[in-house]
Amino acid sequence: MKKVEITAYGAPEEIADCVEAPDVGAPGPGEIVFDVLAFPINPADLSMCRGNYRLRPPLPATPGAECVGRVAAVGIGVGGIKPGDIVINLQRENWTQRRRIDAKDAIPLPAGLDLDQAAMLRINPATALLLLEDHVAPKPGEWVIQNVANSAVGRHLIVLAKQKGLRTANVVRRDDVAAELKSLGADVVLVDGDDLAARTHDAVGGAPIRLGIDAVSGTACKRIADSVADGAVVVSYGAMSGEDLVMSRPALSFRGVSLTGFNLGRGLAKRSPQQVRALYADLAIKLRDGVLKAPIEATYPIEDIKQALTHAQRGGRNGKVLVLPNGRLGAS
Ligand SMILES: NC(=O)c1ccc[n+]([C@@H]2O[C@H](COP(=O)([O-])OP(=O)(O)OC[C@H]3O[C@@H](n4cnc5c(N)ncnc54)[C@H](OP(=O)(O)O)[C@@H]3O)[C@@H](O)[C@H]2O)c1
Repeated sequence: MKKVEITAYGAPEEIADCVEAPDVGAPGPGEIVFDVLAFPINPADLSMCRGNYRLRPPLPATPGAECVGRVAAVGIGVGGIKPGDIVINLQRENWTQRRRIDAKDAIPLPAGLDLDQAAMLRINPATALLLLEDHVAPKPGEWVIQNVANSAVGRHLIVLAKQKGLRTANVVRRDDVAAELKSLGADVVLVDGDDLAARTHDAVGGAPIRLGIDAVSGTACKRIADSVADGAVVVSYGAMSGEDLVMSRPALSFRGVSLTGFNLGRGLAKRSPQQVRALYADLAIKLRDGVLKAPIEATYPIEDIKQALTHAQRGGRNGKVLVLPNGRLGAS
């Protein structure tokens, strides 16, 4: 079978290779084996390849925080999962054709899901949901401001916020995405810039914003902090600029704005296994019904992982780059 392997930390397209690997073998007691049908290339995967992600496994290593697969075999003692089921895997190392995992780490999905969308279920929809729920609980009618609004997380957040009756101010770096974000339910779309706070104030009619969400980091975080109300919370969950967080002292000290961080792993760890499964069951239905959807710009075979990685690092993409390790035949 084939898998992606990195043998050094560096430019993802240079250090990742598609290599031959021994088959994973038959499932042991309590295990399942599944064929990986699709996986996305997410910013965190790219950071992991570069060596600046929070996890820096010993090398050689196989990246891949999420995927969707079709169960090929189940071991003794596995209940609730059978061959042919479509599953997502809660564990990493998914850039491969086949996985053998503990059945407890697999979540079976309902029938009728678009498999490409299912490949992106584990991380971004759950992140968007928990960003809205775990820090401040804004009431219906209240505003939330986020940057990176054109990302997959940002788009899911727009839809989930709307469902909760919240209004969103969405900060982007190019205005050609405004109409599309509005069609998803964005109330306001603003292009980031020095005067963001003043423009936000005007756009929301001076309404207090108690929750700010930042995934650009650097001075973009400061601009979000300057746009929220006194006593508000700014949640940092990404660093697309590659810079460290900047926060103004007046926001922090004089206006009582607090800055906190979010990480999906920690968010899920606060919940029981039953709550995690219920959360994904609900998100899976939203994906199946087309309520949540992340655009896809391109798909690649696993052999072309270098091209896929180069493509995933291009700015101005119109969606995710996905890899289909077993081809479309496997995914049909
Ligand atoms: N903490 C967690 O647990 C967690 C979980 C999931 C995701 N995340 C983070 O969430 C963020 C979004 O992830 P995703 O998978 O949704 O992203 P994505 O769909 O791949 O989109 C990336 C977005 O980043 C924007 N971008 C890229 N470079 C930028 C820069 N220098 N300044 C401003 N914007 C920039 C792009 O803007 P254009 O559209 O203009 O190109 C695009 O909208 C990432 O930082 C990721 O690491 C964190």
